[in-house]
Amino acid sequence: MEENFKLTNAVELKESLATKWQAPSNIALVKYWGKHGLQLPANPSISFTLDACRTITSVKASQGKHSFSISYDGEAIPEFAPKIEAYFKRIASYCPWIANYHFEIDTHNTFPHSSGIASSASSMAALSACVIDFESELTGVPLDYHKMSFLARLGSGSACRSLQGAAVLWGEHKDTEGSSNHYGIDKSELLHPIFRDFQDTILLVDKGEKVVSSTIGHDLMNGHAFAKARFEQAHENLTTLKKALEEGDLETFIKITESEALTLHAMMMTSHPYFILMKPQTLSIIEEIWAFRKETQIPVCFTLDAGANVHLLYPSEHKIAVGELINNKLDQYCQNSHYICDQIGTGAKKC
Ligand code: PMV
Repeated sequence: MEENFKLTNAVELKESLATKWQAPSNIALVKYWGKHGLQLPANPSISFTLDACRTITSVKASQGKHSFSISYDGEAIPEFAPKIEAYFKRIASYCPWIANYHFEIDTHNTFPHSSGIASSASSMAALSACVIDFESELTGVPLDYHKMSFLARLGSGSACRSLQGAAVLWGEHKDTEGSSNHYGIDKSELLHPIFRDFQDTILLVDKGEKVVSSTIGHDLMNGHAFAKARFEQAHENLTTLKKALEEGDLETFIKITESEALTLHAMMMTSHPYFILMKPQTLSIIEEIWAFRKETQIPVCFTLDAGANVHLLYPSEHKIAVGELINNKLDQYCQNSHYICDQIGTGAKKC
């Protein structure tokens, strides 16, 4: 399979190249947690693509010995270099022309640096979009979104779900034709109209660095007592969730989405070493959401990443009522009352 992404077309090197792409973050509904080999997922996952939380990356390439510089808003950020270096090494056999270029990479996130929102998905997706854009220019072959997603995955697993489409499925799944462990596939066509402008308000409970890096986190699933059952459950949940997305079945959507979030955290609480990544405020928010949903019948639910922040998911028609819930009850649990209003987006774009 990987072989399919090795470049077979002739490359005509140019002296210099320049491009700029933006790519969004994404929020998983069925979670990817556990991997093997080179960022191959232990189970399939599906996510909503976000819109406001994005990374904008510009890359200039000049012909010469391979090297790169990386900056954030024009300021050098050497601490990012090891990740980019590893990325270039991993993609080298698929894009051999990179050996002939020096890359000047400048990046910017639309979300605050210290918000507890990981930028690895959006940044690796944006950089991969730039690389494929160059490759298309050098070979004359149209942009290959599957290869873009494939390269992004080599940078950071979930980044492969940040390129194309409002809902992206990644990982082999028997009920999904065309699904692959190597790249994400656009499943926007699944979405019932109720999901097409779904809102995601990210409640910033903890803006600090991740307590458990995702590399360590995924590793916790190796030898985990519940791993086998969890991986099987993800397959089943994906089948059920896909149907709910198609039918606009909010009740099932909520049941699977919240259960997936809690299962992700349950896996962390029952691994060795074990971690509790939720904060008391995370639990308070969850209780408030449940009470509000019971009282109003408004279909708002939550999901969590591998951290304490809460993603509040709801149909846009309930924006006002949920806005009141946030301002009256939930923002007190956020650090400095901060939250980010986002919604479902469509993927990476050239700027
Ligand atoms: O892409 P990574 O290695 O940072 O892992 C992401 C893992 C979760 O965000 C917890 C789940 C997911 O599917 O995005």
